[in-house]
Amino acid sequence: MTILERLGVESPVVQAGMGGGLSRHGLAAAVSEAGGLGTIAVNGATAIERELAAAKALTAAPIAVNLLLPFARRSWFGAAAGADAVITFWGTPRRRTPGIWMHQCGTVAEARSAHAASADAVIVQGVEAGGHVRGRIPALQLHARIRAVLPADYPTLLAGGIAERGDVQRALEAGASGAVAGTRFLLSDESRAHPLYKQRALEATDTVLTELFGFGWPAPHRVGRNAATERWLGANPRGPRLNRTINRLASPAARFTPAAAQMRLARAQRPGSRLLTPVGPTDDGFANLVDAGPLYMGQTVARIDELMPAAEIVRALTP
Ligand SMILES: Cc1cc2nc3c(=O)[nH]c(=O)nc-3n(C[C@H](O)[C@H](O)[C@H](O)COP(=O)(O)O)c2cc1C
Repeated sequence: MTILERLGVESPVVQAGMGGGLSRHGLAAAVSEAGGLGTIAVNGATAIERELAAAKALTAAPIAVNLLLPFARRSWFGAAAGADAVITFWGTPRRRTPGIWMHQCGTVAEARSAHAASADAVIVQGVEAGGHVRGRIPALQLHARIRAVLPADYPTLLAGGIAERGDVQRALEAGASGAVAGTRFLLSDESRAHPLYKQRALEATDTVLTELFGFGWPAPHRVGRNAATERWLGANPRGPRLNRTINRLASPAARFTPAAAQMRLARAQRPGSRLLTPVGPTDDGFANLVDAGPLYMGQTVARIDELMPAAEIVRALTP
């Protein structure tokens, strides 16, 4: 029995948590109701509880909650413990909730430490992934390296580059128990990305791995091009050294800036601003972020040219 079957999930397709409210109850519930595993990604214990309750009202199927370790506080873990699975990312893996816990990893060392910390599974993220990127090599390569050092029966899932059924098939053939897709579900009817963000992603043919939108979280992320990337990214896709230095020095303080202040900064953000926050454009957020903020997307945008209902995506991906 795979880890997903243990959860009561029929399809090996997992919808990645997409932060800042891009994936909320509507998307997660539609994915889970269609037989996959849907994931909620919002900030704050109250929002997690609210979104989880709203998802549970829409489906009896299992729902996951995603938490970013640099930001999650104790109360967020308490709220996430009400989910059927907790998926963590970015930081030292440590068990914080009693139920099923998976940790997304980008290196062999990180996978080893998640296993040692009693994670029920690791999600292996490749460099082709959208959003914040921990992986440095393609997902299938990293997956092979990680499987080679962990016990043969230890469950792994693969993230990065999943947009079609063949991608899921290849992940399963490589021994993964499931495939995690972010970008494909960003381009669903139910994702809460701003409509212009979805349109840009549908039109995009390439992406850039950068550190540009790093005020508050100076970590590599894969985005589509917009006015801000055109303004700041010349020969060096990471972004100007001065911007990165400011981001790095400011990050301890910026991380604990109250959410309201961060939102004020995001609202005022322009393509020419030197301080660029990681806040992405949601359909109920700030339209200025379509050109001044991060349009998180993975390399699969080159292969995706239509929005689809999330349930149809689950069916299209399931082998
Ligand atoms: C728009 C977007 C937002 C993301 N936000 C998060 C997040 O908040 N937490 C997280 O663990 N991963 C996040 N990711 C990364 C995913 O977990 C996953 O690794 C990635 O989507 C897989 O690659 P793909 O985009 O090619 O499917 C995000 C990805 C995208 C595309």
